Order: sequence, then C-alpha cells, then structure tokens
Amino acid sequence: MSKNFKRYTVTAALPYANGPVHIGHLAGVYIPADIYVRYLRLQKKDVIYVCGSDEHGVPITLKAQKEGVTPQEIVDRYNKIIKDSFKDFGISFDIYSRTSSKTHAETSSEFFRKLYDKNEFIEKTSEQFYDADAKQFLADRYITGTCPHCGNDKAYGDQCEACGTSLNATDLINPKSAVTGNTPSLKETNHWFLPLDKYQPFLQKWILEDHKEWKPNVYGQCKSWLDLGLQPRAVSRDLDWGVPVPVKGAEGKVLYVWFDAPIGYISATKELTTDWEKYWKSDDTKLVHFIGKDNIVFHCIVFPAMLKAEGSYILPDNVPANEFLNLEGDKISTSRNWAVWLHEYLLDFPEKQDVLRYVLTANAPETKDNDFTWKDFQDRNNNELVAILGNFVNRVVVLTNKYYNGIIPEPEPQEFLAIDKSINDDIVQIKEKIEKNIETYHFREALKEAMNIARIGNKYLTECEPWKIINTNPDRVKNIMYLSLQITASLSQAFEPFLPFTSKRIREMLNITDVNWNNIGKCNILKPLHKINSPSLLFSKIEDVEIEAQINKLMETKKTNSLSQTKAKPQKENISFDDFSKIDIRVGTILEAENVPKTKKLMKLTIDIGIDKRTVVSGIAEYFKPEDVVGKQVSVLVNLAPRNLKGIESQGMILMAENADGSLSFVQPTIKVFNGGEIK
Ligand code: MF3
Ligand code: ZN
Repeated sequence: MSKNFKRYTVTAALPYANGPVHIGHLAGVYIPADIYVRYLRLQKKDVIYVCGSDEHGVPITLKAQKEGVTPQEIVDRYNKIIKDSFKDFGISFDIYSRTSSKTHAETSSEFFRKLYDKNEFIEKTSEQFYDADAKQFLADRYITGTCPHCGNDKAYGDQCEACGTSLNATDLINPKSAVTGNTPSLKETNHWFLPLDKYQPFLQKWILEDHKEWKPNVYGQCKSWLDLGLQPRAVSRDLDWGVPVPVKGAEGKVLYVWFDAPIGYISATKELTTDWEKYWKSDDTKLVHFIGKDNIVFHCIVFPAMLKAEGSYILPDNVPANEFLNLEGDKISTSRNWAVWLHEYLLDFPEKQDVLRYVLTANAPETKDNDFTWKDFQDRNNNELVAILGNFVNRVVVLTNKYYNGIIPEPEPQEFLAIDKSINDDIVQIKEKIEKNIETYHFREALKEAMNIARIGNKYLTECEPWKIINTNPDRVKNIMYLSLQITASLSQAFEPFLPFTSKRIREMLNITDVNWNNIGKCNILKPLHKINSPSLLFSKIEDVEIEAQINKLMETKKTNSLSQTKAKPQKENISFDDFSKIDIRVGTILEAENVPKTKKLMKLTIDIGIDKRTVVSGIAEYFKPEDVVGKQVSVLVNLAPRNLKGIESQGMILMAENADGSLSFVQPTIKVFNGGEIK
C-alpha cells in the first residue's frame, strides 16, 4: 500500500553526548538519512530532517563520574564536537537540538503527564539494585554482569551489546556496581511502567501485518520480540540527571532516558517551526526513523506504543535500521578507542569528506554487518572516485576549455548519432533506478547507479575520441562535447544526495547553481554559449603512505589495549631477605653477539660484567638481531650455576621484561652505569 504523502518527517537517532561520533554512526544512520532527505529536497518535497544530542541517561552520568566533572560539562563538550562533525560532513539537519533544552523538558513532561492522567501507566514497587557505599540505585549501565543469554561478562543492566538482547538488571549473573565494583544489594523503590503487553495485539497487527515491507532485519527483530510476549517496562529511574518525573511524591526520580529521548524528535521539531504539529499529527505526513540496529526495539515497539497511548500522533511509516560497521575486522568500540573518529579523520584528510561519504555508502551495513578497511577506502578513492567520476568531469571541462575557450558549443542537429540518443535514454533509466532505490532505502545500490552515469560518460568519450577528430570533423566534436557537458550537468544533480561537496564543485566548474532532480538525463541543462569555468581536480589519489599511517595508528591502539588488558600473574611465594641477598645481579655491556646455529631462540653473547668477560646464552634471538644488541647495557644474573646449552657453557643469565604479547625488552639502567655495578 503506498500512500500519497504530502510531507516527510525524517529523524536520525539522537547520539549520546558522551563521546565524539565515528564512521559507524555516519554509515549506519546519518549518511543514509542525509541521502534520503537531500533527495526529497531535490524532488521539491516538504521535508524536515531532525536530530539532536541525547543528553540524559546513565551513559552521560557514568562518563562524568569517571572524569570527575559534572554531567553538564560532559554534554556541553560533546554536543559541540558532535554537532561540528555533522556539519563538517554535510549532514544537512534542519535542526540539531539537545534533550537538555527547556522545550524538551516541557514536551517530555507534558507527554508523561498526559499518559499519567489517562491512567496509561502502572505504578509498582519493586526491588532494584542499590549500592550502599555510593548511596545510589544502580539503573541500567550502572550495573554490569554476565549476560544470561550469551555469557558476555560485560553486559549492562539494560542491554547486552554482544548479543543485542535487552535485559533487566536482575537478569544478570554476578551483578556488579559500575560505581564501586561492589556486589549490590536489593532495595525497594517505586516506579511507573508502560504496559507494553496491553499494546501487543495492536503492535502485532501494525508491524507484522501492515508493515511487511520493512527491512528483514527490522521486521525479524520485531517479530522475535513480539513472539516472546511484551512485558510492562519501567519509564522512570532513581537518578538525579534527567527530566524530573512530573508527579507529586516523585522526588529523586527522572524519566527513563529511552522515554524522553525519542520525544526529543518532537521537541526538536517544535524548536524548528511553530507549524510543528503538521509534521507529527497529520496522516498525510510520512514519518521515517533512521537508526542503528541496537535501537530497533525502542523505535518499533516502545516509542510507537507511547505515541499510540498518547493518541494524537502519527506512527512511523518505516524504520530503516542498519546493521553495524566494523573496523578492520573488529567491532567499533569507544572504550577500546577502536574507531575512526570524524574530527580526527578531517585532520588527516582535510577536504575529503565526500570520499568518506562515498566509501561509507558504497559499503554501508544495510543488510548485514560490514567491514571498513583503509585499503578499501584507498581503492575506492583511487579506482572509482579519481578514475571514474573525477576523470570524466575533468576531461569534459578541460576539453571544453581547450576547444572552445569554455563556451558551450551549439550542437549540429544533423550530427546527432544513434549512440547519443541511446545515452540520454540510459541516463533517464538510471535516474529511475536511483529513485526506486532511494525510496526503498537501498542507498548502496542507488550510489552504484549514480556512478554508472559517470561510467557511461567515460565510455562515450573513449568510443568517440573527440581528440582524434577535432581537426577532421569539428562539427561532430561539437555534439560530442555538448552531450558530454550535459552528462556532467546530470552528474552534478545525481550526486547531490550522496556527495554534496563534489556536486557543488561540479556546478561551480559548470558555472551553474540550480539543482533539480528532474534535470537528470535532460539534454539541455546547459545552454549553448553558456560559459563554464576552468577545471579543478575533484579528487586526488590517496598514496600508500597515507594508508599505512592510518593502519599504524590502529596497531598502536591494539598494542595499548592489549597492554592495559593483560592481567599480571599472581605473586610467587615470599622469600627471606637472606634468599634475596644470595642473588648477584650486575650491569654488563654486550660486546659480541651471534645466533646459535640450528636454534630459533638462542643467541650467544659475550658480556663485559666488570669482573670478567663471559659467555651467556640467552633466548632472545626471536626478538633481536645480533647487530642490534651489541653495545647494549643489560642486567646479568652472574652467580647462576653455569649451564650447558647446545654445547656452549652459559655463565649467567640476562634479565628480560616480558610484554603482554610475549615480546621481550632488556632491563637496563636509565643512565650509563660502570660494568660490574650492582643491582640491588
Ligand atoms: N542515544 C541513543 C543511542 O545512541 C539513541 C537515542 S534515539 C532516540 O543509542 F530516539 F531515543 F532519540
Ligand atoms: Zn548477551
């Protein structure tokens, strides 16, 4: 059933203001939504694109506690960083608000109050985890423990990120307080619950019967929730950060962040326009929520139940959630710093926003989790953006300037060939394919089609070879160039949703400002005698060294993580001071070194230990080359009874520190010490 919608309300998940945004956010939510919205705007549709920072909830207060600052400081800091990143990448929100705004406090408490007054909530006393030392209830992420479904021992009180299951804190095995690490106790507290079970029949019909067109990953998740049977969910929390529960006797309680946050879409719309109601309460408005897969239940089940309970709002027409983007084979993780942060990317690749937009769209996790690799980033830039799109536009602009001083030639009607006509038809067909794909949220496919316009252009130039016939058949060349210029103009429209910076630069080169979706494939977008500008390169090659630098940065992160995560072995049994004083360790200098033949690990060293020069056989050959160790000062256990190793008598042992990955490091004095100096 496709309805005739008059306007569109497009939302993108409100990111938590507890950290910067990374490529996973862009690929999963903000770029697809941006493509969709830019496309609708080009179609001259009435559309609003709303977003903002999610500034309540435990992710914020935990971060603040960790850093020893106030939650307000945290949200102020990250709201700015996030907002700037989105702007830098051309994410074209009509408004980017925040849930700490006054409008939002009013809107969300009114919403709660209305449900409360309609008796839509159940008020219940239950036992919740409490940390007696921290003197606080442990809501949601304040509790960690082992997930009863998958065994992940870092599951949160509200959700397990490993298997995606939404949890109750009391489900966790071996729960621990995230504040003190203590095992929490249970304490009675009073809360308001939304009886989702009451909405089960409605949701069942609305999703499973009326929205069979939803993406399989979304539909499937909803179905398994519904199959399990919905339970009442608490919509308040014992916390001091959030929107206060607007009911007498609810001191110290705030709205659950997942109750207030989606209402943030409505608050943002109110801030955007006084005409906000038509975007939320009018049946001919199409509401679309762009989110990541961890948000599906909240947007498909909980928020719709809230809207339905309230009664005056429309429900989403679609919730095109994406799966997750991984980075170089590993799950993106803020706490492990395993991410490409947008603000850092721009420092390394200034002006290359569209390259990232392109790669993230071409490789978007639309139907399954996908991997971002720097190699793929480089390949797509060099082999697609530079070699196909950039190359075509550049050739057309260069040749037009060369042949005609940048003035678009008048075509010769008798010189139009069948191939020219078929090219226009092909582009019109591509335009329709892009439309169909964008309207059904297949953005990867849509981008591929847009790229096909540039491919067609390249093929056309290569087949017609205007540079070979410019002297013999200048009339034919006029037509070839005229048509190539129209293709270029089509590109500047077709790429606008995907690569807005690039499209604008193409238009600047063509000396046009108009953008109109329906111009794509037209053969008279640019008029004869119109003067275009001189060429400038749209894309530049990304060199191996730039990619290596990024990969090295990630390897450093891996190293740092493995160091901080490796647990020290337990201590050995105590020894007496007498035992210790028997040990004689001296500073020595390695004079000679050679690998012991037929062994992998052993190196024969000659060491000056001050007392004498002696031979020590050491198991360091896997980590050092003989020429690199000569001259090094080391610590030598000199009174270890001599041992025979591979026929060589070893007269001592050098001390090595072992790292998390098993690699070895010399234990050296920090300044030069005389050979024979005691280590004690
Ligand atoms: N802050 C949530 C997250 O990052 C998303 C909130 S979306 C909203 O997962 F609908 F609640 F706003
Ligand atoms: Zn789990």
